[in-house]
Amino acid sequence: MEMTNAQIRDRVDALKPWFHNMDLGGVATAPEHFLGDYPNIKWRKFADAIPADLTGKSVLDIGCNAGFYSMEMKRRGASRVLGVDFDDDYLAQARFAAEVSELDIEFAKLSVYDVGTLNEKFDVVIFMGVLYHLRHPLLALDLIREHVAGDMLVFQSMQRGSADTVDIAENYQFWDTDLFDAPEFPKLHFIEHRYSNDPTNWWIPNRAATEAMLRSAGFRIEARPEHEVYICRIAEQNVDAKPVYPGSGRNS
Ligand SMILES: C[S@@+](CC[C@H](N)C(=O)[O-])C[C@H]1O[C@@H](n2cnc3c(N)ncnc32)[C@H](O)[C@@H]1O
Repeated sequence: MEMTNAQIRDRVDALKPWFHNMDLGGVATAPEHFLGDYPNIKWRKFADAIPADLTGKSVLDIGCNAGFYSMEMKRRGASRVLGVDFDDDYLAQARFAAEVSELDIEFAKLSVYDVGTLNEKFDVVIFMGVLYHLRHPLLALDLIREHVAGDMLVFQSMQRGSADTVDIAENYQFWDTDLFDAPEFPKLHFIEHRYSNDPTNWWIPNRAATEAMLRSAGFRIEARPEHEVYICRIAEQNVDAKPVYPGSGRNS
């Protein structure tokens, strides 16, 4: 049975607070979002970088929140869309939003660290806005690459610090210390307490670190349609290719 506008409003209110602002039958879920009409304003800047027709493709949306990107992928015809998040409240929002929008999407409670349990590779993996919320960001990227990334990764991270990049040398000598003072050297900024009042912001990369981490985890950056958004394809994981010296902790 179709819900009335008043019924939708009641459910939207009951499911508050929303991070995704969406129009559900004329009801805005987060009209006061501090980033504006989010994530729509971001999506509009990179929507053209993703195939308009996803017919026959499978999509995994990790950290799906209220399902904005899952729903956009389904609207593009993806045959299977699975949205996962470790937060029950966001999953309840996602299920409701998909139901009101009459989109057939699966949602499941899953941490990014457990993607291996899915035992499935997906044509498109979306990993937007999650990396900096993790205590172990590179582990998450490695797990995604190993277990679920079948072809394309759509990635976004908040970035702070220099937006410049630098050619990364194959090696740096022990006494090369100045390079660490260069703003464009890959840096992950550790947030011990809070950033933007959010205790779950742990590591905020600059642009160079974002790109280096993606490469190191085995992704080839194909495009950067928006300053925080990367379209990647799976490539060789280069951590294993590096020599391990006894006691160097290289791969630890
Ligand atoms: C900033 S929101 C991003 C939501 C959406 N992907 C986007 O780009 O708009 C971060 C989301 O990641 C989820 N999240 C954080 N840590 C997670 C983890 N370890 N596993 C799965 N989801 C996680 C949060 O619950 C939240 O829904």
